[in-house]
Amino acid sequence: MATNSFTIAIDGPAAAGKGTISKGVAAHFGFAHLDTGLLYRAVGRRTLEGMDPLAAAQALTADELEQGDLRTAEIAQAASKVAVIPEVRAALVDFQRAFARRAGGAVLDGRDIGTVICPDAEVKLFVTASAEVRAERRFLELSAKGADITRDQVLADVRERDARDAERITAPMKPADDAILLDTSDLSIEDALSRAIAAIAQKRPAA
Ligand code: CDP
Repeated sequence: MATNSFTIAIDGPAAAGKGTISKGVAAHFGFAHLDTGLLYRAVGRRTLEGMDPLAAAQALTADELEQGDLRTAEIAQAASKVAVIPEVRAALVDFQRAFARRAGGAVLDGRDIGTVICPDAEVKLFVTASAEVRAERRFLELSAKGADITRDQVLADVRERDARDAERITAPMKPADDAILLDTSDLSIEDALSRAIAAIAQKRPAA
């Protein structure tokens, strides 16, 4: 384990703002950031191309995370389907844990970071918001990219993935017992980020 590692685990349901908060927190503290959803999205994309999910997870490379647009609604659904498979999840554990313990600090966001991947993370946040607020944010994000999608379709996608993610047997989405809950339904992204930074600063020894 790196001596000066410090892990921040940020979990929560679809489109809760984890990505924006994680990036902001990483920039503030000078930590590296891993969006673990991209791992599942990259595997999901491979399955849409016809590949076996476990073979895709075992062969996954960091380069694949940078290729093309993984943040489509279709890939999100495929991601949540492969994420149910225990062997797929197991194949992705080592990469995430190695990232978490790198020197200089790391922020990982996902569904099971505080519960399964990094149960000893120094700080755990569980970021949430109402399904309607999350769907509206994701709708604006997707339509800004030109996606042909309606608000209702996005809300249905968010609800379907939340149910699949929360109800699966292996590593279901849930707050760790020691997670700090952050409901961003009524917060601007700046306010949500300031609260996350304040909560983390309290747990971080002065540099
Ligand atoms: O951005 P959004 O919150 O919509 O999704 P994401 O974080 O990119 O994750 C896509 C899907 O991957 C989720 O719906 C989960 O099924 C799965 N996932 C997971 O199971 N565990 C993680 N640590 C991260 C994502």
